[in-house]
Amino acid sequence: MKILITGGCGFIGSNFVRYFSAKYPSEKILNVDKLTYAGNLQNLQGMDKRKGYRFVKTDIASARKMKDIFKNFRPDAVVNFAAETHVDRSIYTQGVFLKTNFIGVGVLLNCALEYGVEKFVHISTDEVYGSITRGNFREDSVLNPSNPYSASKAAADGLVLAYYKTYGLPVVITRSSNNYGPYQFPEKFIPLVIFNAMENKKIPVYGDGLQVRDWLFVEDNCRAIDLVLRGGKAGEIYNIGGQHERANIQVIKRILKILHRPPTLIEHVKDRPGHDRRYALSISKIRRQLGWQPRVSFESGIAKTMRWYQKNRGWLKNTQTGAYRSFYRKYYSKLGLSET
Ligand SMILES: NC(=O)c1ccc[n+]([C@@H]2O[C@H](COP(=O)([O-])OP(=O)(O)OC[C@H]3O[C@@H](n4cnc5c(N)ncnc54)[C@H](O)[C@@H]3O)[C@@H](O)[C@H]2O)c1
Repeated sequence: MKILITGGCGFIGSNFVRYFSAKYPSEKILNVDKLTYAGNLQNLQGMDKRKGYRFVKTDIASARKMKDIFKNFRPDAVVNFAAETHVDRSIYTQGVFLKTNFIGVGVLLNCALEYGVEKFVHISTDEVYGSITRGNFREDSVLNPSNPYSASKAAADGLVLAYYKTYGLPVVITRSSNNYGPYQFPEKFIPLVIFNAMENKKIPVYGDGLQVRDWLFVEDNCRAIDLVLRGGKAGEIYNIGGQHERANIQVIKRILKILHRPPTLIEHVKDRPGHDRRYALSISKIRRQLGWQPRVSFESGIAKTMRWYQKNRGWLKNTQTGAYRSFYRKYYSKLGLSET
């Protein structure tokens, strides 16, 4: 199989490239990534030596460049991870979210159609369903996104399914819950808490911190995506949930405890506009059809993740670029916090 992976230098994408490469050493991989602030070549250190692996720096929203890539590589399958992914950023700068998460997906779908791709796996998110107080969302639940990020992902899901219904393109969508694990950019919740705690910096907590998320270890997600790629039915959606619900404040307290840091580092700030209270997924479809269920408990996943960040302080420091710092200076001042 020749596989085109987009966004392979980001968090889940790079974990998937390594997972896929180890499991299928002879299959050809082309990784296309724009290398935004969230894309990092260091996430795939050593991959350039693997036979059959290639990286191209390109924007998925560039129709001309993507067409050339499809024409030359002729992928059998596409897995699309490329996206702008940070909710907080989407509240302040919406344009790039619409361009990458919707227009970019449209470009990929057109190319996949033109060059006869046999499977198009689109990576979506549980955030498209919005918030739920009790129970959980199934794949046929109504979409009710709350912020520009989740709205752009929901719009893309509609477009992906339309290419199946209108043109018969064999698409599959995955909607996973919150991932955590190695190589996650430290603006996201768990690595941010770990990083700030290690540096003895304040940890901002939105509102009362009782927002509940379902945590999925990234390797479990990679295994599920691979199963969907191989056996997922065209035109279908698969929820992928960790089945480990935790309130944000609980997660912070656990990390502080493991790192022997005082709870005084926690600083409650004004809640995020449109902040979803709880996400929860039913995973009975993927369990029934593809035999998948999460293997990594939250306790062992978080311990593994923390060990990785402690061992890779250099990687963490390298993510603190000028652009990152300037965004966070403005952002922290909006929250009424100093950077330290
Ligand atoms: N992280 C999570 O908890 C989570 C949960 C559910 C779904 N998802 C989805 O999984 C996918 C990957 O998420 P992630 O957390 O790894 O994101 P990330 O922000 O870590 O990585 C995104 C990658 O996409 C690349 N990219 C961005 N715009 C691009 C463009 N226009 N062209 C080419 N490449 C581009 C970036 O350079 C980066 O390497 C996203 O589609 C996201 O919506 C993430």
